Amino acid sequence: MSTATQNIVVNKVEKSKIDQVDFSNLAFGSIFSDHMLVCNFKNGEWQAPTIEPYAPIQLDPAAKIFHYGQSIFEGMKAYKDEKGSTLLFRPKDNWIRLNKSAERMVIPEIPEAIFMDGLTKLLDVDGDWIPTNEGSSLYIRPFMFASGNGFHASPADEYKFVICTAPSGAYFSGKVKVLIEEKYARAANGGVGYAKAGGNYAAQFYPTQLAIDRGYNQVIWTDDNTHEYIEEAGAMNIFVRIGDTLLTSPTSDRILDGITRKSIIQIAKDAGIEVKERKVTVAEVVAAAKSGDLKEMFGAGTAAVISPIAGFGYKNEDFDLPELENPYAAQLKKTITDIQTNKSEDPYGWRF
Ligand code: COI
Repeated sequence: MSTATQNIVVNKVEKSKIDQVDFSNLAFGSIFSDHMLVCNFKNGEWQAPTIEPYAPIQLDPAAKIFHYGQSIFEGMKAYKDEKGSTLLFRPKDNWIRLNKSAERMVIPEIPEAIFMDGLTKLLDVDGDWIPTNEGSSLYIRPFMFASGNGFHASPADEYKFVICTAPSGAYFSGKVKVLIEEKYARAANGGVGYAKAGGNYAAQFYPTQLAIDRGYNQVIWTDDNTHEYIEEAGAMNIFVRIGDTLLTSPTSDRILDGITRKSIIQIAKDAGIEVKERKVTVAEVVAAAKSGDLKEMFGAGTAAVISPIAGFGYKNEDFDLPELENPYAAQLKKTITDIQTNKSEDPYGWRF
């Protein structure tokens, strides 16, 4: 740890809530560990971070987060291996991506030492909250937002960086059915689609609700201009397997540079799977579904891990994906989760 953060002040809870948690039956991100890391930006600099009991944050009603949505976040997971060591997956990549989002949303970048040492210390304090049963993990939510006030539509002068954690099970329960979007768009060229800005997610709620009303779980976003190209699914990047080739859209202004996405691409290539990062048209996916060449579709993300898609809808037609014996999704999920949980070697140096 750096000298600036090695003495992070920890104000512990009087009584832990951990006894109230059923670790064998965890939903995603709905109960929260005892503590949170808080760091304030004021007078032009980040102040010393502290670890506090998890509790509501008091804010001025004129704080710019409420009015102009200046807010960004990350998603990470902590695991415990058989020896009880706490493990993270590519955490520095989350720090780098958070600061890319920060730059786009004019939020001051968070120094690596505050992010990494603060996170390490928080996991040290709340280490008992890391679930050990298969498929569960401690979901970590670092976020930054404008706490400074004013109705002038310009960046705030004060910010908060907070890390909360939540022992979590799977993001999706049951089969995932998606609707390929024909009208609404998630992101546009020159916009903020590549950033993990809170507003990117809020803007999806309305079209996603329309899709849920029709019996789907998620929307697959298409490009804002023509709606001819598959982009991502909002909570995850999308992979499509046609024949034996795995296809995924290249990252762009509009598509999140997913850490799971890029790890999967690497793992798949090293396993001898042909992977193409290229534009994927809705027409080719529909044609492949009709001809039987469409073997798999799956989402990839920190929360979603690898979530197989059972079927998709497009223009009032529904298509089911075949149930394969040894799908790429299952093979890749095993490889990545074994690396994450220290059940296998990590040839990439991703485990922390
Ligand atoms: C994650 O996968 O960690 C994300 O941040 C996506 C979020 C919608 C749960």
